[in-house]
Amino acid sequence: MDNLPLKLIDQFGRQVDYIRLSITDRCDFRCVYCMAEDMTFLPRDEVLSLEECARLIKVFVRLGVTKVRITGGEPLVRKNALWLFKEIGNLTGLNELVLTTNGSQLNTQAQALKNAGVKRINISIDSLKPEKFKQITRTGRLEKVLDGLQASIHAGFEGIKMNTVLMRGHNDDETTDLVQFAIDNKIDISFIEEMPLGEVDHTRESTFVSNADTLKLLQSKYLLAPSTHNSGGPARYWQVSGTQTKIGFISPHSHNFCESCNRVRITCKGELYLCLGQEDKVDLMPLLRENPNDDGPLIQAILDSMRIKPKGHDFDLRRAEPAVVRFMSHTGG
Ligand code: 5AD
Ligand code: SF4
Repeated sequence: MDNLPLKLIDQFGRQVDYIRLSITDRCDFRCVYCMAEDMTFLPRDEVLSLEECARLIKVFVRLGVTKVRITGGEPLVRKNALWLFKEIGNLTGLNELVLTTNGSQLNTQAQALKNAGVKRINISIDSLKPEKFKQITRTGRLEKVLDGLQASIHAGFEGIKMNTVLMRGHNDDETTDLVQFAIDNKIDISFIEEMPLGEVDHTRESTFVSNADTLKLLQSKYLLAPSTHNSGGPARYWQVSGTQTKIGFISPHSHNFCESCNRVRITCKGELYLCLGQEDKVDLMPLLRENPNDDGPLIQAILDSMRIKPKGHDFDLRRAEPAVVRFMSHTGG
């Protein structure tokens, strides 16, 4: 293992340099598009320890990964999550440590995360009306999340982005208000189309809002210039002219981004998923636990996994069954 190839390259020639790791399936919110009201969470011993998370990330960075996103569930409800950020925040080769959060803990943790080396954060904000926010998240308090956002702005991250899932009849009347809020706060915003991940309490088709419609609406209010900014993912960005705000549109149903896919996901159980929309996976937890002092088998399994990374995904909103049975909170957003 000393002569490591420095890169993870799949059979279609795509280099994987970005991993998304879910460090918990738990969350203090129960967003209607993400979870059923009544969720059962994994027993602790079935979830990677934070030490195992750190070890995995170090191995991936040795294999050429330069960007790591920590997700959940809600990553910041995991006890001692900050330890992990400090442990990996200054790894050589890791250029971008980023975080996806619901913002509920940022009022107390934003500065420590920044100090640990987190470069950018994505905060889910689906509504600016307290009642509506409560209805969508079932348990969340808007005021606390907005405090967390202000703490993050104050902490000085290189980038802050709101993530918004528009749902017909729920919050699609707030599209412009949400964008204006992003502009006023000099941050970015992405609209994520609802994805059929996991069984929830409504049919996805009834609430689906297409990004094409959202873009059309926003173009009637703002001057938008296509942005060259590209994360290698399913997002397309537009700059709002005369402001510091970029608007992203994440359309998981479109196929056009698969060919530039640069990422894999790791669940909180240590399952390496090669594609968000497919079931192809490799279980890394046994390799971690059976070889506590030898990264060799783990590295080999990750290298081998590149042969099964699928060409593209296979979402279909109209299917009766969820396209992918696992929840976003398992796989990480
Ligand atoms: N479809 C689209 N977005 C989702 N998220 C969670 N579940 C879904 C889903 N089924 C979003 C959250 C968060 C991001 C990580 O993923 O709102 O912003
Ligand atoms: Fe929690 Fe995020 Fe899922 Fe909402 S979308 S329930 S905040 S994991």
